[in-house]
This record gives sequence, C-alpha cells and structure tokens, in this order.
Amino acid sequence: LLADWQRLVLLGGLDPLMVKYNESINFDRILYKQDIRGSIAYARANAEAGIISRREFEQIEKGLQQVEKEWATGIFAIVPGVDEDIHTANERRLGEIIGKQVAGKLHTGRSRNEQVVCDMRLWLRDELRAIERHLADLLHVMAARAEREIDLVMPGYTHLQRAQPIRWSHWLLSYCLVFATDLEHLREVIRRVNRCPLGCGALAGNPFAIDRDMMARELGFDGLLWNSMAGVADRDFVTETLQWGAMLMQHVSRWAEDLIIYSTAEFGFVRLADAYSTGSSLMPQKKNPDSLELLRGKCGRAFGHMAGFMMSQKGLPSTYNKDLQESVEPMLDHVKTVSDSIQVANGVLATLTTDAGRMRAALDPSMLATDIADYLVRKGVPFRETHHISGRCVAKAEETGTPINELSYDQFCGIDNRFEKDIADVFDYDMSVERRSAKGGTSKASVLQQIKVIREML
Ligand code: ARG
Repeated sequence: LLADWQRLVLLGGLDPLMVKYNESINFDRILYKQDIRGSIAYARANAEAGIISRREFEQIEKGLQQVEKEWATGIFAIVPGVDEDIHTANERRLGEIIGKQVAGKLHTGRSRNEQVVCDMRLWLRDELRAIERHLADLLHVMAARAEREIDLVMPGYTHLQRAQPIRWSHWLLSYCLVFATDLEHLREVIRRVNRCPLGCGALAGNPFAIDRDMMARELGFDGLLWNSMAGVADRDFVTETLQWGAMLMQHVSRWAEDLIIYSTAEFGFVRLADAYSTGSSLMPQKKNPDSLELLRGKCGRAFGHMAGFMMSQKGLPSTYNKDLQESVEPMLDHVKTVSDSIQVANGVLATLTTDAGRMRAALDPSMLATDIADYLVRKGVPFRETHHISGRCVAKAEETGTPINELSYDQFCGIDNRFEKDIADVFDYDMSVERRSAKGGTSKASVLQQIKVIREML
C-alpha cells in the first residue's frame, strides 16, 4: 500500500503530471514541416562535412520525407509520454522507418536548443510574410475607398466633440497611414526573424566545422546568428513580433471604435454589411457591430501575449532554459489573432456603406469658427486677436439663437469693423476643407497626394 509519490520514487519515473507539464508536442506539432526541412538541411551539411556518408544522407532525407507525409495526411501517431516535442517525435519516427543505426546520426553535433529556434524562425517568417500581404490588401482597400469617396465631407472630432470639417477620406487615410507605418515596421521585423541559428549547437557552437552558410541558404534565411550562445537564447524575434502585433492591434482597436461610433443611429455615417454584424437574441431591431467590437477587444489579448512573454524572460540566466518554451504558445495565438483581425477589418471596410447625407447633416456652422479667425488673419489681423473676435461671433450666435452663418453683415461689423461683405464666403464646408491644402491636409489635392504616398509603399 504505497502512496503515489512512494511508487514514483521506487519506479524512478517522472510524475505523470510533470510529463504533461513538460511536453510541448500538443502545440509545437504545428512546426512539423519546418522541423523536417531544418533536419534535411542539417543532414546535408553533415554529409558535406564528411560526418555522414552520401548514402546515409539520402536515407535520412527519404525517411524524413515520409515522416512529413505522415503528418500531412494526419496518420502520424504521437506516442503519449514518449514524444515530448516535435523534435523528439520526428526523430523517433525516423528511427522506426530507416533504422536507429542511421537515424541516430542525424543529431550529431546538434541540439534541440538550436532546432527549436530554427523551426520557430522558419514558421514565423512565412506567417509574417502572409500577414504582410493581408496588411497590404487592407491598405489597398482603404486607399481605393478614400479615392472613390473623396467628396464626402463630415465632422472631424477632437475630444469626440465636433471640431472642423474634414473629408471622410481624410479620416480613412489617418488610419491608413498608421497601418502603412506598421507595414514598414513589419518588414524590418521579418528581416530580423529571418536569421539562421543552425550550427549553434547546445550553446558553444558546432564541433564538426559544419557549413552554416550553406544551411542558411538552403532554408532561405537572410543571414546567420553570429554568436552561438545568443543564438540559442534569443527570443527577441518573438518579443518583437508580439510588440509589433500589440501596437498594430491598438491601431485596429481605435479604428474599430471610431466606426462603432459612426455606425450608431445617433451618427449614422456608416452602416455595416450583414456579413459583419449580428442580431440580438431578444431585440429584433438590433444590428450589433460584433466584428468591430471583437477587433477592439482582441487588442487586450495581443497585449497580453506580449506582456506575458516579456515577463517570462526577465532574469533568465544565459542561453537555453526551459522557460523559453513559453514563447511558443503566445507566438502561435498572436499570429492567428493578428492575421484574422487584419482580414476581418478588411472585410468590414470593403463592405460597409457610407451615408453622405448623414455626414453632411452632422456638420454645424459653428465648426467654421476657426475659418472666421483665419479670414481676418488674411486681412492682416494678428491671430490671437482674430481668435478672440471669432469667439465673440460664436457668443453672439448663441445669445441670439441664430446659427453663426446667419448673423447679419451688420452684426459682424458690430463685433469688428474689419469684416467685409466676403465674410459670407467663409460659410461653405467644401471651401473650408479645400483651404487645408498644405501637404497632409484635408483638401482634395492633399488627400490625393496621401493616396499616392501609400500606393508607392505597396
Ligand atoms: N520543446 C523545447 C522548447 O520549445 C525544445 C528545446 C528543448 N531543449 C532542451 N534542452 N530541453 O523550448
């Protein structure tokens, strides 16, 4: 009648819970293809270095190709409690297929420490390239929409209070240019992800003079990790991806929030397509912007991946420690979250409809108060003074219950005698927008220029 722990001590095995706690096969199996590609490159380089024979390499390559096929067709049988991770699982299966004598040579001079980062870097590089394409698609859709709907004018907001008239396209491009910077940043991240760790060994390097450049070339890496200790320890390529994605999702989140507001009955600037909204189980009239709310909400999850993994790395001693296995799951979930989010955002934007009438109806003549001040500036009055005068016009309008554009010429002159008849021309939203014609402004020419800048980046 032994207690569980006594039995464990007698049998000398791992605690069954520890086995589960330790293994990563349930999530790193997604890396099977990268693991096999890396092993083939490693075996080829070992053959080149004379560590294994040509014939042995061919057996290993053929065997690994069969293992890959088993994964791809879903017949690979994981041995519970034995296949700790994708690396050990693939090697175990290779031994069964080609015999342990030759399979046992594959791992010569190699460590799982370099293997796992090789797999992760290959996987992440390809995933980030796909994300790069999705992001570019989003920019295309944004730019096309901005071009097509350039004549729509709506209120621009600060503090969520009506501020100045802007083009709807200018609002769109305000996010588009932020996403364009995300794209630039992503391209830099990909460059740093795409470095080859193979040949780093467990930490000290490879003892058989293996040709690292050859492996890097075969795997499509842009270069090497130049210090073997750093090579196995470094997860900055994951951290940086998570930081990048957290910032991107923060941009997505703000964009989604604007659209949620613009889609309310109170605003009514946009209407989501049915494909991206849902009804209520109780209230038949409801049309909820679930897509946008999830885009807003998933920012928290993306930030969590980043903060969590940064914390896991804090204070780790040199080189590989098992803590680093905690980089894999956040990376996988983060990439899926970001990739799906960009594609959903694209769908939402491509299918929503705008309401030019509601946008225009939300404009208020008092939003032209700055234009009154600017009018007097053009007559030579110092801005600090014109700002004050314009404020008195606003007050007069409020006092008399008249919209500011309906104050009489005499009323304007009563406030300041430098007003002339042409003050009436100020009260035109389209003219107001067109006056912002310096680069980056909301005039038509400036908006078209922004579209050009974005397209040049793609
Ligand atoms: N599954 C491990 C990871 O993801 C692979 C590396 C294991 N290396 C080791 N020395 N235990 O980090």
